[in-house]
Amino acid sequence: MARVIAFANQKGGVAKTTTTLNLGVALAEQGKRVMAVDLDPQGNLTMSQGWNPDEIERSMFDVLVHKLPITEIVRTSEIDVAVSSIDLAGAELALASMIGRERALEKALLPALGEYDYVLIDTPPSLGLLTINALVASSGVIVPVQCEYLSLRGLVQLENTLSMIRENLNPKVEIQGILPTMYDKRLLHSREAVEILRENFGDLVLNTKIRKTVRYAEAPVKGQSVLKYDPSGEAAGMYRDLAKEVLDGASARQHA
Ligand SMILES: Nc1ncnc2c1ncn2[C@@H]1O[C@H](COP(=O)(O)OP(=O)(O)OP(=O)(O)O)[C@@H](O)[C@H]1O
Ligand SMILES: [Mg+2]
Repeated sequence: MARVIAFANQKGGVAKTTTTLNLGVALAEQGKRVMAVDLDPQGNLTMSQGWNPDEIERSMFDVLVHKLPITEIVRTSEIDVAVSSIDLAGAELALASMIGRERALEKALLPALGEYDYVLIDTPPSLGLLTINALVASSGVIVPVQCEYLSLRGLVQLENTLSMIRENLNPKVEIQGILPTMYDKRLLHSREAVEILRENFGDLVLNTKIRKTVRYAEAPVKGQSVLKYDPSGEAAGMYRDLAKEVLDGASARQHA
């Protein structure tokens, strides 16, 4: 059965999408079967694999709202991607009046869970119904955080949302790791931000830090992960390190 991990932070531009794709490709390099789910109406993950969300007819919108089987909208490039389209922007409204609105994604994923080792869900920068669907469907949450003081403050709000979800909808969901991103080791401010994270969240902060490099912005222009765009580069190496850390965590969980 697949382990389902959501990538969430209501703050925009912290590398949720970059992490979902590149971790997914790095796990696939390790022989894991991976599906990424683009649950963001911006469709950045979909674009990062070379598809234009404006030209996509059937997407996660149809899966969530019209109960179309998810396999019918999955496309394959470096990994399998359940694609987004601009329609998805209407999903929150369409779901709002449905019974079981928070569980639409959890239900949709059920038939796919046996086909994959990892299902990775990219969420939009809000704590709305789409993100709630992701958190209800997941057992782990990885929270990418930009290494900046002001970015750290939003984590409390995310934690509050998670405890409400644990109480009411999904008792098993937990933060699997906080991932420092856009880390610049030359900046004292970056190092201090990681220290503050560690003081507040201890072992939840992952050992892997994703450094700032323009490679992460360049790769999506080619419709590629950094692992394909620059396979031997440092940018790819950091997501391979993250994949190892996630896999080590998984075997630790199994033996616990
Ligand atoms: N480590 C990094 N160093 C430099 N730039 C990065 C890094 N990671 C991501 N970026 C770039 O920063 C921008 C935001 O990243 P990304 O789209 O992954 O964030 P996001 O959290 O998904 O944003 P949104 O909240 O809008 O969905 C992108 O242009 C991306 O290429
Ligand atoms: Mg994104």
